[in-house]
Amino acid sequence: MTDTADTTADTATEAVVASFADTPDPRLREILQKLVPHLHDFVREVRPTVAEWEAAIAFLTATGQRCDDTRQEFILLSDVLGVSMLVETLNGQEAGTESTVLGPFHVVESPERENGENIDLLGGAAQAVVTGRVLDPDGTPLAGATIDVWQCTEKGFYDVQQPDLQPLGNGRGLFHSDSEGRFWFRTVVPSHYPIPTDGPVGAMLTATRRHPYRPAHIHFLVDAPGHRTLTTHVFVAGSPYLDSDAVFAVKSSLVADFTLVEDTQRAQAHGVDTPFRLAEIDLVLDPVELDPSRRAAPVAAG
Ligand code: BEZ
Ligand code: FE
Repeated sequence: MTDTADTTADTATEAVVASFADTPDPRLREILQKLVPHLHDFVREVRPTVAEWEAAIAFLTATGQRCDDTRQEFILLSDVLGVSMLVETLNGQEAGTESTVLGPFHVVESPERENGENIDLLGGAAQAVVTGRVLDPDGTPLAGATIDVWQCTEKGFYDVQQPDLQPLGNGRGLFHSDSEGRFWFRTVVPSHYPIPTDGPVGAMLTATRRHPYRPAHIHFLVDAPGHRTLTTHVFVAGSPYLDSDAVFAVKSSLVADFTLVEDTQRAQAHGVDTPFRLAEIDLVLDPVELDPSRRAAPVAAG
């Protein structure tokens, strides 16, 4: 008689957890041994039929197949399930500007730009100026910080969504703060927009009667030596969907006025027409080195 260990609904979890006991990387071992009980509890509670489980696998397969160099359907899935925002919040800065999701559109490198340059390469829309400072929590300006910016047009499309209508790099720029920590650029006020709905994630939103819209925002990825990288947005005050973001990423501290300015001299100083919209924002970076116990270790592949 062979010595077998039958798997039952009661013993499956313990057996699978034990199977990972010799994983050399302790963080990978911890992640897998914690994941399995949650996953099994979910299955025991929901009791999917075999057909439902096959549908779930088909959904995840379709999600992977919808990813390419400019489309990241898995990030989108994580976003609409609120997981991206949860991870971001748990890993967020201890001091300084609040963080929010990266989103799936940081897929191309932003072109290097000088302060004052226009990231709107199309023209024809109402102009805006964004000025700001990169600071330490105590107000010390951080010179030489990199400020990576990306946004959609006033019609709500990123460059990568309209390769035939927008040059790659439209709405994007990599800026550097000056000796006073300042940066500034010209642009257009972005619109609220729907996240991509032509893939499996869109089908899920439709099936669940959820709307796909995000409130208007500009993305920022800010880096300075000795500081934690800040991934955040500046949301446009008054935008629709500030109270029902499809990816749960709004924080009220990140909402900024894009004030109408009708002063011709100020417009000339910024190189824009009158009137224009002006947003003034401070981005405060956390100098505290992350406690190593909170830093997720890279999970070894293979
Ligand atoms: C974005 O803001 O670019 C974004 C974030 C999450 C999902 C889709 C888009
Ligand atoms: Fe966005």
